[in-house]
Amino acid sequence: MKTFYITTAIDYANGSPHLGHAYEKVLTDVIARFQRLLGKEVYFLTGLDEHGQKVQQSARKAGVEPIEICDRLAGEFKSLCSDLRISNDDYIRTTESRHKAVVQTLLQRLHDKGDIYKAEYSGYYSVRQEQFVTEKEQVNGNWPEIFGEVIEVRESNYFFRLAKYQDWLVDSLKREEPRIFPNFRSRDVLEFLKEPLNDLCISRPKERLSWGIELPFDNDFVTYVWFDALVNYISAIGYGTDAFERHWPVDYHVIGKDILVPPHAVYWPIMLKACEIPLPKSLLVHGWWLKAGSKMSKSSGGAENPLDWIGLYGADAFRYFVIREMNVGQDSEFSSELFLRRYNDDLGNDLGNLVSRLLNMVHRYRDGKLTTPTVTEEPEAVLQALWQETVSAVVDDYKGFQFHKGLERTFNFIRAINRYAEQRAPWKLAKDQSTDGQALLDTCLTHMAEALRLAVTLLLPIMPDTSERVQALLGGGFGDDWPAQLQWTHAVVGKEIGAKTILFPRPEVPSA
Ligand code: ME8
Ligand code: MG
Repeated sequence: MKTFYITTAIDYANGSPHLGHAYEKVLTDVIARFQRLLGKEVYFLTGLDEHGQKVQQSARKAGVEPIEICDRLAGEFKSLCSDLRISNDDYIRTTESRHKAVVQTLLQRLHDKGDIYKAEYSGYYSVRQEQFVTEKEQVNGNWPEIFGEVIEVRESNYFFRLAKYQDWLVDSLKREEPRIFPNFRSRDVLEFLKEPLNDLCISRPKERLSWGIELPFDNDFVTYVWFDALVNYISAIGYGTDAFERHWPVDYHVIGKDILVPPHAVYWPIMLKACEIPLPKSLLVHGWWLKAGSKMSKSSGGAENPLDWIGLYGADAFRYFVIREMNVGQDSEFSSELFLRRYNDDLGNDLGNLVSRLLNMVHRYRDGKLTTPTVTEEPEAVLQALWQETVSAVVDDYKGFQFHKGLERTFNFIRAINRYAEQRAPWKLAKDQSTDGQALLDTCLTHMAEALRLAVTLLLPIMPDTSERVQALLGGGFGDDWPAQLQWTHAVVGKEIGAKTILFPRPEVPSA
């Protein structure tokens, strides 16, 4: 059976991880976990993009080999994955030989069929920045200071025939091959393709850049950037082997909006087509995390690095925040005030207090055991009906990548459990020794516990630790068939309920 194959972009090894990287991994992980819960066999890939000018430059500056820098950053990015409970099946690094071999296979094939050719290229080159610059970058006819000396260079390079495939690509995209989510982004791609495509320069002479993958047909040159990076999606799953056939075509490439056009929507489909490899099924394009309106990156991290919040508040609080705040495809602002509000209000008050209050009462009034409810009056019927509405709407939200809405609905349900408790007031029923009063107390506690079990089951793809912890506190052993676990069955009856627990403690306020 073909797996559900999902990837993130591979991160540049030119700086430490930041919020954008963390978000993309969490989003992809939520989708991967959700698909697993629906019964799919999932294969989830992430990794590191290691070649290129910047890495070579920083290595020179530091007086070390480029691979040393990459090894250190690979360590940082992998720790981020484990800190965030990312459930990736593999981690690809573009310096691995399994990757380089596939890049070279494809380059050779395209060279053999004439889709890669050598041509002379001339342009302006900034010696200080070690990159080509264009006249558009001049200010009042002068090169900006940061470029240092700018010289005219003529140099031979290898080019990939993109233009030849332009008409085919436009037709393919109109057939939604690949499909682009959100849909409005496909208009950007088609707009871009209204202009004639230039062939893509895919090489650098080794004397200028050696930190790349050698061209198999000319060892004076290396390839780097897109012809290198994009290939990770097939090299990692063993292109040319049976494993590849089990995973490819990919179901979703999850990427940020800055790398849709042209890399993922133009270069990648054309590279695959030219190599006679099936196209990706879908591209899932998320927006940017902004801070005060500008894209967050390493340089805008400032004193308070959002990734520090993972250690302070836990992986699940971080995962909840980014998934609750971001409407997939749009941009979102990061602010500590917003983070703390979500943490204190949604997690601490609505969910955390419900858990501790319930566990406390079950122990005080019932010695840690719940019994089958005997009463169904309006408050119980209303809560159960709200659950039916919630569960089907949330599963649909998740299927449509509307995770922020799914969480909003789930927390509305959690607040409804709290309202139900206020209404039944079990702390008053506990003082009523009549048979009716005691039956109502049993009914109320069991309804609260069952509703809580259901709510946290729905949170499983987003907050896996919290979900499992609360299920364990409710006695655990609810099975592993997720759709069945989402049925209101009073599964909590007869379970051994755990001791009172504070799920989201108020942490020490980090000093500024
Ligand atoms: O682009 N908000 O690497 P990268 C949300 N190596 N997402 C963001 C973001 C932000 N502020 N900043 C970056 C590369 N991202 C290439 C990819 S794929 C074959 C090669 C996202 O480290 C960005 O959109 O600059 C991209 O999807 C991912 O982080 C890696 O960015
Ligand atoms: Mg980038």
